[in-house]
Amino acid sequence: MSTTLITGGTVVTSTGRSEADVLIDGETIAAVLAPGSTLLGHDLARSVDTVLDAAGKYVIPGGIDAHTHMQMPFGGTEASDTFETGTRAAAWGGTTTIVDFAIQRYGERVMDGLAAWHEKAAGECAVDYGFHQIVGDVNDDSLKAMAGLIDEGVSSYKLFMAYPGVFYSDDAQIYKAMRVGAETGLMTMMHAENGPAIDAMVTELLAQGKTDPYYHGVARAWQMEEEATHRAIMLANLTGAPLYVVHVSAKQAVEQLAAARDNGQNVFGETCPQYLYMSLEDQLGAEGFEGAKYVCSTPLRSKHEHHQDHMWQSLRTNDIQMVATDHCPFCMKGQKDLGVGDFSKIPNGIGSVEHRLDLMYQGVVDGKITLERWVEITSTTPARMFGMYGTKGVIAPGADADVVIYDPAGHTSIGLDKTHHMNMDYSAWEGYEIDGHVDTVLSRGRVLINDNEYLGTRGTAATSIVPRASI
Ligand code: URP
Ligand code: ZN
Ligand code: ZN
Repeated sequence: MSTTLITGGTVVTSTGRSEADVLIDGETIAAVLAPGSTLLGHDLARSVDTVLDAAGKYVIPGGIDAHTHMQMPFGGTEASDTFETGTRAAAWGGTTTIVDFAIQRYGERVMDGLAAWHEKAAGECAVDYGFHQIVGDVNDDSLKAMAGLIDEGVSSYKLFMAYPGVFYSDDAQIYKAMRVGAETGLMTMMHAENGPAIDAMVTELLAQGKTDPYYHGVARAWQMEEEATHRAIMLANLTGAPLYVVHVSAKQAVEQLAAARDNGQNVFGETCPQYLYMSLEDQLGAEGFEGAKYVCSTPLRSKHEHHQDHMWQSLRTNDIQMVATDHCPFCMKGQKDLGVGDFSKIPNGIGSVEHRLDLMYQGVVDGKITLERWVEITSTTPARMFGMYGTKGVIAPGADADVVIYDPAGHTSIGLDKTHHMNMDYSAWEGYEIDGHVDTVLSRGRVLINDNEYLGTRGTAATSIVPRASI
């Protein structure tokens, strides 16, 4: 087992920062030491196999992206990143764990869906991975199977109030599933949008000849998100289930979550970088078919209604607890273009797994969140939320040596011919400039990225994480 010493850096956790050296033994952090510490009088730096100099840099726990969809069949096609390409891109961006979604489709069995996703990921991944379970057909058989998910290392499942005819659950199904969530402690993750009403509006808009990507955002109005979020909260309140609302974009939905939390309810919210940086007008409303690049659900919101500022504020006040990407990439050619002339046929999703840490770090530079909060929302809270805390989400003895050395004096220019390792023919983040840089990435003590070079190999860090029971 090899040993590594990270010297001279500033270790940042969710609760503070300190000058410290980090000693790694094999796959684990062995010690966090005062700078220049010796071991029984011996110079530590001379005793280890590898020394990584982090002077002037931040040493942070590897990012955890708790919402990705690698090679997900969706919208008549399949998300373009495989587990191999997507986790490699994640590593480039300092994300050392992803939690993806195994899918039970209508008419299929839950455990068969989970097994199928294990098969897709096994031996492919560059970073650790785990699964949430999408339950796309709530029935007596799946309710029974859900009770066994925790034993399979899955502490959370996702339901959809959107996408009728695909993953949609009605209120009775949600109620029944949440009863299981309450009994078992499984976290209910909710896609909170009123799907049937949205579909009616889509039909109306298309009939009026409003076919551009912009109308995707019009049809999926914030009222549809607020209403569904409220309904999910009420059903969780009734059943006692813990609730985690995914990809929150509307400030009114945040207000519903904040009110429920103020009321003592066990509810949480996740947002994504696109809802912090992008808008209905500037991206979805781009010239011609360009807006298709930014079609995702929930959709981008109007800049005139200030959802984006409100979302940053919610991250500061902890009304929103974490940032995941909802990484669901599709190429423009052959995938997004399925929706030329009909926005409802554009596959929903944006690719961001490579850029989440950088984009959120820019929030630190811009004075929107603190350094500690950056670590908390991108690593520590996702670890806590999905039963990994202690093993992941911290720099502390005994934790997995998932570590990022981040250079605040570095720079990252995002773009297709610059920093881009996702399997897509465009970048939704083209032209974004980040005042920081992911220098070195370790996954369980193994260096995956150093000095703009990828040193990992397919499947090397591919051990599936086994989350402990949910909070
Ligand atoms: O647009 C999105 N969000 N695509 C992925 C599927 C989902 O709803 O999370
Ligand atoms: Zn969703
Ligand atoms: Zn998603």
